[in-house]
Amino acid sequence: MSKNLKSHWDEVYKTKNFEEVSWFQAEPETSIQFFEKLKLPKTASIIDMGAGESRFVDYLLDKGYSNITLVDISEEALNKTKARLGTKGEALKYIVADAAKFKTTEKYDFWHDRATFHFLTEIEDIEYYTQNICRSLNSKAYFLIGTFAEGGPKSCSGLEISQYSADDLSEVFARCLTQEKSLKATHKTPNGTVQKFTFCLFKYDG
Ligand SMILES: C[S@@+](CC[C@H](N)C(=O)[O-])C[C@H]1O[C@@H](n2cnc3c(N)ncnc32)[C@H](O)[C@@H]1O
Repeated sequence: MSKNLKSHWDEVYKTKNFEEVSWFQAEPETSIQFFEKLKLPKTASIIDMGAGESRFVDYLLDKGYSNITLVDISEEALNKTKARLGTKGEALKYIVADAAKFKTTEKYDFWHDRATFHFLTEIEDIEYYTQNICRSLNSKAYFLIGTFAEGGPKSCSGLEISQYSADDLSEVFARCLTQEKSLKATHKTPNGTVQKFTFCLFKYDG
């Protein structure tokens, strides 16, 4: 794991409140809208990559899902989430890892990534991430991704990002995923800036 990147994100979560960061969402509506339609069984194995302090996990717990893994490069972020959820989150798995190196023997039915993948700008890291998804999904699994879109921000949290259209994402994940739906979304940051996002739902071909 890149130490610099880990310390960058730890510092962000140490110094900023949940409501202050540009990616803040009181409720991750778009992710929820996509997820709800899938009607996955409550036993579904779910991973949120770069979960940060996202309230997507709160929604999942409220709906009765408990087989949930939260991954983030920042231990600080996961500690905040763990402390916030308290006993409600005791059964969850919290894993501090770099998405570009994360290793797991588990298989997932739903992989969620909002605003994490676009930080992987090196071709090898993107390659690793796509391969990792392909070997870590159960058959009939889904992958939901939200990234900055063309015309959206060129950086976030002082870091370079990559922008993607729905077609770009189809190409990147073509190795084992087929796009089912896409949506152009906007996100309003706490300071009122509007950011363009691309959301895509993929189905695992395996
Ligand atoms: C823009 S925030 C989004 C957080 C969350 N997904 C949400 O929607 O609120 C990006 C998150 O990805 C994490 N992150 C950034 N680079 C990462 C990497 N290479 N591996 C794992 N997590 C990473 C950050 O610590 C941060 O929590």
